[in-house]
Formats: sequence, C-alpha cells, structure tokens
Amino acid sequence: NWPASVTIKEVGPRDGLQNEKVFVSTEDKIAWINQLSGTGIKSIEITSFVNPKWIPALADAAEVAKGIERMPGVIYSALVPNRRWLERALIVDVDEAAVFMSASETHNQRNINKSISVTFPMLREVAQEALSAGKSVRGYVSTVFGCPYEGPVSIDEVIRVSETLFEMGIGELSLGDTIGIANPKQVQDVLDILLKRFDAKKLALHFHNTRGTALANILVSMDMGITTFDASVGGLGGCPYAPGASGNVASDDLLYMLDAMGIKTGVNQEKLLSAARFIQGKIGRALPSHNLQVDGSN
Ligand code: HMG
Ligand code: MG
Repeated sequence: NWPASVTIKEVGPRDGLQNEKVFVSTEDKIAWINQLSGTGIKSIEITSFVNPKWIPALADAAEVAKGIERMPGVIYSALVPNRRWLERALIVDVDEAAVFMSASETHNQRNINKSISVTFPMLREVAQEALSAGKSVRGYVSTVFGCPYEGPVSIDEVIRVSETLFEMGIGELSLGDTIGIANPKQVQDVLDILLKRFDAKKLALHFHNTRGTALANILVSMDMGITTFDASVGGLGGCPYAPGASGNVASDDLLYMLDAMGIKTGVNQEKLLSAARFIQGKIGRALPSHNLQVDGSN
C-alpha cells in the first residue's frame, strides 16, 4: 500500500552539520545548499538560529541564509528556539521557522535548557510571530521512540506535546527518532495511536539511522500513509544532546529505494550524490550512506 509520491526534506545543512567537529566554511555551506536546491528537493533546513556557544558549527546562520540563492518553489527553513532568535531569522527572511522540543523532560532540559512546561509558551510566541510575518511553522518532537537519558517515552507525553504544538498553529509535525532506536513494529504501534488524532498529511518522520533500522521504519510509515521524511545526504549528522546518536537516514539511500519502488520524489539521484560527495570532501571523512559506497567515492 505505497504512496504515489513522497516528499524528502533535506536536513543535512542543519542536523547533518550541527554535530560535526569540522567547521564547514560559510562559503562552502552556501555552495552546498545551492547544489541541494538544484537536485529537485523542495524543502531544505538550512541552519539553526541557536546559541553558538552550544552549536558552534552553525554560528554563521544569518550569513548562510543571506548568501544562498533562493530557488523558486524551494522552502528554506531554519530551527528557531525562541523569540529572540526568531527576530534574527526574520531579518534574513527564512521561509519557515522550525520549533523543537522533546517528549521527555531530561532531553528537553539538556537540549534547550528549559522544562517542557516552560518551553510551551516560548514556542507559542515563536509560532504566532512567525505566522503573522507570513512564514510557515514546522514543529519537531524529539525522543518519540526513546530518550537517551530516560529510556522509554510514554505515548501520552508524545500526544500531549504534539497536540500542544498543533494548537500553536504549526503546519507540519516531525516525529523524531533522535537516537535511532525505533523498530518497525514500534513505529506501527506509535503511528496507530497518533493517526487516530492527527492527519497523516501533517506528520513527517525523522529517523536517525544509528542502528540501521531507518529504511525499515520508513517503509512501515509509508504503508500507514506518511509521505514526508527528513533525511541528510550521505547520512551526515547526529544530535549533540543525544550521546551516541548518529546521522539521519541518508537522503540518497532513501531516494534509491523510492526510485526503485516507482514512488515519485522529483529528486535527481546523480545530483544528490554529487552534493553528498561535495560535503564529504569538506568534512574529510567517509560518510555512511550505502549509495556513496556503491558510487565508488567512499
Ligand atoms: P537560553 O537558556 O534561553 O538562553 O538558551 P541563553 O542562550 O541566553 O542562555 C542562558 C544561560 O544558560 C547561558 O549561560 C547559557 O550558556 C546556558 P551563560 O553563558 O550566561 O553562563 N544554557 C545552557 N546550559 C546548559 N545546556 C544548555 C543551555 N542552553 C543555554 N542546552 C537555547 C536556550 C535554546 C537558545 C539554547 O539552549 C540553545 O541554543 N540550545 C541548542 C539547541 C539545539 O540546537 N539543539 C540541536 C537541535 S535539536 C535536534 O537536533 C533534534 C531534531 O533533529 C529532531 C530529532 O532528531 O529528534 C530536531
Ligand atoms: Mg535529528
């Protein structure tokens, strides 16, 4: 029961780079994002407007947002934690503000230095201001399938956080498997419950591939009607507040599977692999995606 088409949201310039030790120069980030815009991908998370003390790799957020070419039809989004950082994102005219929080208290605290209850009004302000500035707002809920500090996460907490984010006016909610711990059976169980409350068209899945289960999880998600998936070219990435977390599912591995299944994405694999090779060269280590290895460049 596969969808006819799927949207791949490229999060490499944000999730991919945020945890890298090597600082990729602003110029290289811009060149890379411009390459990604030319692959047919319709949505790119380009950076984060967050405290550079915590995420130094993305300290040049404003310069990146100002420097890139805006391809018509492509949505350029950025992570924004509060009103102060939203102002900076609006000055450089990002198309979409992505607010983020966790379903587990400890991860939320480590990541954004706030309890869940204090985070809600902070994100509500961001959502309201971004919407009134004519921007779209995306929401992320992390640790949906497990927390690095607390272990299993209750589905009731996931529902509560998700409902609160939708009440703020977010257009899409991305469910994060932050530490890549989910398995297909668990994904089915979680989606079974969430799809009784939320429209499949408003949900995205965000799988890290820490334990190699991301594509299997995507397959069951598609079978249940989900058509938007976050991914990073080459499988770049991790989460600085999730010890041991590795990269997102590789966009090129996901695209290979979707192409082979006849599911449309509008994305060109050769161009995507070329963008993956570009950033691999800048990072200076082999990236984990399988298609880069088949390609002989890894
Ligand atoms: P804030 O506390 O509101 O404001 O930061 P601040 O930046 O003015 O900081 C006040 C004081 O608290 C400062 O102390 C900060 O250093 C400290 P001072 O410098 O004055 O001595 N502080 C912290 N201390 C410990 N841990 C922290 C922390 N933050 C500030 N985390 C803000 C809030 C959100 C701006 C800040 O915490 C921040 O920038 N955090 C980074 C968040 C981030 O970008 N995380 C990664 C992205 S989320 C993700 O990867 C998951 C996702 O991919 C989905 C998934 O995979 O699940 C989206
Ligand atoms: Mg992530």
